[in-house]
Amino acid sequence: ISKGNGVKGLSEMGLKSLPKEYVQPPEERMSMSQIMHQESIPIIDMSSWDDPNVAESICNAAEKWGFFQITNHGVPIEVLESVKEATHRFFGLPAEEKSKFLKENSPSNNVRFGTSFTPEAEKALEWKDYLSLFYVSEDEASALWPPVCRDQVLEYMKSSEAVIKRLLEALMKRLNVKEIDEMKESVLMGSKRINLNYYPTCPNPELTVGVGRHSDVSTLTILLQDDIGGLYVKGDNGRWIHVPPVSGSLVINVGDALQIMSNGRYKSVEHRVVANGSKNRISVPIFVNPRPCDMIGPFPEVLEGGEKAAYKQVLYSDYVKLFFSKAHDGKNTVEF
Ligand code: SIN
Ligand code: FE2
Repeated sequence: ISKGNGVKGLSEMGLKSLPKEYVQPPEERMSMSQIMHQESIPIIDMSSWDDPNVAESICNAAEKWGFFQITNHGVPIEVLESVKEATHRFFGLPAEEKSKFLKENSPSNNVRFGTSFTPEAEKALEWKDYLSLFYVSEDEASALWPPVCRDQVLEYMKSSEAVIKRLLEALMKRLNVKEIDEMKESVLMGSKRINLNYYPTCPNPELTVGVGRHSDVSTLTILLQDDIGGLYVKGDNGRWIHVPPVSGSLVINVGDALQIMSNGRYKSVEHRVVANGSKNRISVPIFVNPRPCDMIGPFPEVLEGGEKAAYKQVLYSDYVKLFFSKAHDGKNTVEF
């Protein structure tokens, strides 16, 4: 089986059972008893943005759940549909085309096709393929990103800018940050990464994971998912809550960087994706990040009232490097 076909290639061979490399230890598998059906994360309608209740709901959700969904967010439904189609087009390419973007072949570190998360560091692999694109400039994207998805991804990134700004403005106001100046803009949203994720049908879904338990290292993550489902978020009581697909919505979550900048007020919450026994699933997260060269730490505005800093200043690229050097391990990057 060629590496250029990833887990999708394994899936399409029609395996009767899961290869042993993908069998997760029992404590990393999701069992029915761990799922909480009574609760759900908020769904926030953003159509009347000026209504202070909207900002209020966003901040409350970021504090309590670290996760929420938004509807009427201003990103056109056609843009969402076309980025999903583009994702299917990319993963549908022949292995030799996708191989061009494998780590060993890719013309740039900013464009990477791969499988699992950190295969070299994982005890068991994750049942997932991805294309990860670090955005530098439109010119670079035009030159290096796969032509089958490039324009749709760029369009999606552009049309989600406004809602990202609005979310961050609302979240900053509650932290007593009145204006997003140049420096704040850099640490909040100075760089972006977008992933196209593909979770192929799995022969023994209960034995493996799509993505293991982790929190994101972003400021905010904006996630587009299709109508299959399988994303779970950790609730207060340690049980897992499903994030149901809602047509036209985007899933928003707080990442570690925002947890740190808010001195723990906004929660970067553990989440995971289960594997599916009968369907292929895709998702497309945009990671809104500090720039790699930024120092991040609790904002002075948050500490004004005498609150003690709960986190040290850290160079963002060092933080990210640590995260990508190990297997998914819950919240261990932020709770060092
Ligand atoms: C992730 O959090 O890494 C992926 C989320 C998803 O696919 O729903
Ligand atoms: Fe994530």
